[in-house]
Formats: sequence, C-alpha cells, structure tokens
Amino acid sequence: MDSSSVPQILIERQQVQLAVEKLASEIGQDYQERDLVLVCVLKGAFVFTSDLARLLENLSLEVDFIGLSSYCNNRESSGEVKITQPLSCSIKGRDVLVVEDIVDTGITTRFLLDYLAKEKPASLKLCALLDKTSRRQTAINIDYKGLEVPDKFIVGYGLDCAEKYRHLPDICFLEDK
Ligand code: IMP
Ligand code: MG
Repeated sequence: MDSSSVPQILIERQQVQLAVEKLASEIGQDYQERDLVLVCVLKGAFVFTSDLARLLENLSLEVDFIGLSSYCNNRESSGEVKITQPLSCSIKGRDVLVVEDIVDTGITTRFLLDYLAKEKPASLKLCALLDKTSRRQTAINIDYKGLEVPDKFIVGYGLDCAEKYRHLPDICFLEDK
C-alpha cells in the first residue's frame, strides 16, 4: 500500500455535488438571520468548503481556516494532533460551524471541537462530508453529515495520500497493494 496505487472512483462527482447541495440546504435553513463563521479544517476540507460556501450565498457568512495535522504523510494517524495554522478571527460569542472532510477515528475532530469550545462560541456545530463510522474511537456527533464511506483509504475532493490526489474531482479510494 502506497501513494502510487491508482485511485479508483468510489463516489462520482455528480453524487458528491448532490450531497453538498443537500447539506447547504439544511445549513441555509438553520442559519437564516444569523451571522455564521464557517471554519474550514485545512488542508483536506478546502474543496468541500469552497463548494459549500458558494451554495450559502444568502447567509451572512465569514469563512476562516484552521490548520491541523494528525497524519504524518502516511495512512496511519499518529494520534497526536497539532495546530499548524490558528484561526484569524475571534469566535467568542459567535455561531461557528466546523467543516471537515472526513471523520475517521474522530480523534482530530474531538481535539478541534474541545479546542474551539474553550473560545466560548455562542454555538458550535460540525459538518463533515464523509463519515467512516467503522473506524471511530471516540464519540462524535456530526450535525450535518454528507456520505458514509467504507473502511478504505479515501483520496480526491481535497483528501490526500502523502499530499497527492487532492485535486481529483471524484471521491476515490486507493487499492491495497
Ligand atoms: P481522524 O482523526 O482519524 O478522524 O482523522 C482525521 C483526519 O485524517 C481527517 O480530517 C483527514 O484529514 C485524515 N483522514 C482520515 N481518513 C482519511 C482517508 O481515508 N483519506 C485521507 N485522509 C484521511
Ligand atoms: Mg481533515
């Protein structure tokens, strides 16, 4: 197993787009008349966030970014999460929606939600495009969930393997070699 395997399509781009539209419609309804801070978790959520944010054109929205790293350029989580880039805005007293690419073991998301909660936002919710439930190690409530994926290594639509494949438009998986 390495990053040179050929990615196989798991979810076609049209299906991904439908899932993003469904999430945007739910979020759009829930956050009408409110000021929302969308927190994009770098790097993996950058494609998802850009598609999602543009479907929320009727909301009062601020998009910010936080850099987290929990994978050391391979497929196994180190279990240790680091903030590689802090938020650039204050979230104190504000409505915050974290945008994640995938919740796998849940360790990264748990760390992030606990970290952001200390800043005392008015509300803190989670939107994740992909959910790999079978690998969960810590309970995570996903308020806005896109698609469930099997226990395969996913790449494309922002997700990488050793920094490759983020640019693929479909959600793919890497075959075990
Ligand atoms: P977790 O802490 O195990 O839930 O995973 C945290 C992060 O690891 C995710 O936000 C992704 O950036 C990355 N990750 C987890 N599973 C995959 C995968 O299948 N492909 C690519 N990245 C993944
Ligand atoms: Mg991520």
